[in-house]
Amino acid sequence: MRISVIGCGYLGAVHASAMAVLGHDVVGIDVDERKIAQLRAAQPPFFEPGLAEILANATSSGRLAFSTDIEDAATADVHFIAVGTPQSPGSNFADLTYVDAAFASLVPHLREGALVVGKSTVPVGTAQRLAALLAARAPHASLAWNPEFLREGYAVKDTLEPDRLVYGVGDDHAASVLDDVYRTAIDAGTPRIVTDYATAELVKVAANAFLATKISFINAMSEIADATGADVTALADAIGHDARIGRRFLNAGVGFGGGCLPKDIRGFTARADELGLGESLAFLKEVDAINLRQRQRVVDLAVGLLDGAPNGKRVVVLGVTFKPESDDVRDSPALDVAVQLRGLGADVVATDPEGIENARGRHPQLAYVESTDEALRGAELVLLVTEWREYRDLDPQRVASLVATPRIIDGRNVLDPDAWRAAGWVYKGMGRP
Ligand code: UDX
Repeated sequence: MRISVIGCGYLGAVHASAMAVLGHDVVGIDVDERKIAQLRAAQPPFFEPGLAEILANATSSGRLAFSTDIEDAATADVHFIAVGTPQSPGSNFADLTYVDAAFASLVPHLREGALVVGKSTVPVGTAQRLAALLAARAPHASLAWNPEFLREGYAVKDTLEPDRLVYGVGDDHAASVLDDVYRTAIDAGTPRIVTDYATAELVKVAANAFLATKISFINAMSEIADATGADVTALADAIGHDARIGRRFLNAGVGFGGGCLPKDIRGFTARADELGLGESLAFLKEVDAINLRQRQRVVDLAVGLLDGAPNGKRVVVLGVTFKPESDDVRDSPALDVAVQLRGLGADVVATDPEGIENARGRHPQLAYVESTDEALRGAELVLLVTEWREYRDLDPQRVASLVATPRIIDGRNVLDPDAWRAAGWVYKGMGRP
């Protein structure tokens, strides 16, 4: 099929490459000239495992092109809108500027029978509004909403082998076109749910709200564990054996961040307030508050370990991205903690395998060091706040010989407390005795 993907960020660049690998003819469109130049040269504009390989594969097949000109999308039959919907400045609402702009620029170029497919996460009601606009301005085209559930770090696999497909459609034809797009996944038995626009939009925010709630639940348990001497990790293992609960997304720590979970739960509550249903989602405000409190807990723990006097002390922050296997620092709890400690006068040195460039762009006031050993040298306190494999695998004996004072906060509960204490460290986890 001939496909265009509008927006070539974490979602669109992977989607465009994956669709070409699956055999479609794809053009990726973005207003960012630098990004398009990189993609044309088959260079991923951000770190995502496996993207370089599928980008190279798709580019050499001749089925993948990139452009800054929306007119180059005109020959496509299916157009994916994959632009960002960040939190609006100064409010909790999702900012739809980019979705509306992409849609408006695309409409004049739609061929007879074209299908516009929204992938971006939007407030419920958006697809209905855009469908009405399409009916007025391009009645020869139609609209579907097809939310995306990819996780950063696993985006290639999640796109090539999704765990479910959700189509919000206005008619059966749109569903059959999407079936042709996703033929490989459908033939492999991927569950597919065909529904209305509102349900499709809600599936996405409901899924993220549930995941966020699960994380904040276990973080709330970690607060109780801290006060009572219980171990939240053993608690998570024990309740996780109940198949109705499940162990995944029950890791207590510094909390969730990234470009999706935080802004999606806020956008969802703002939309519920707007619908006069604020009470229905009031619990998500608590989920957000628990999550932000985790960052403060780590900062307070750090200040406590530094005897209440962080001023001038060398604090090493291991990891600045919002999770491992990503260079994304959007709403990163790790970076937030680093910035707060620096604000309290600590001599903060941050390191990360992939995120330094993005972190420096947002917080140039922090000191960044590429090498982990270099960062650790002379540390008076170590904070592990993003659980990259290389930090999980640190040898406590060896690291003890690098630092000035062996004190560590395990903000992701990924280290073995006994091994670190045996090597002479003061170890503090989150909700671990
Ligand atoms: C999320 C959803 O998982 C994905 O389906 C959706 O499409 C986009 O949003 P992503 O933002 O890539 O994906 O990250 P995810 O893996 O969900 O992690 C989100 C945050 O939660 C990270 O900061 C992570 O460190 C944190 N987390 C996750 C925890 O603190 N504890 C856990 O047990 C799991």
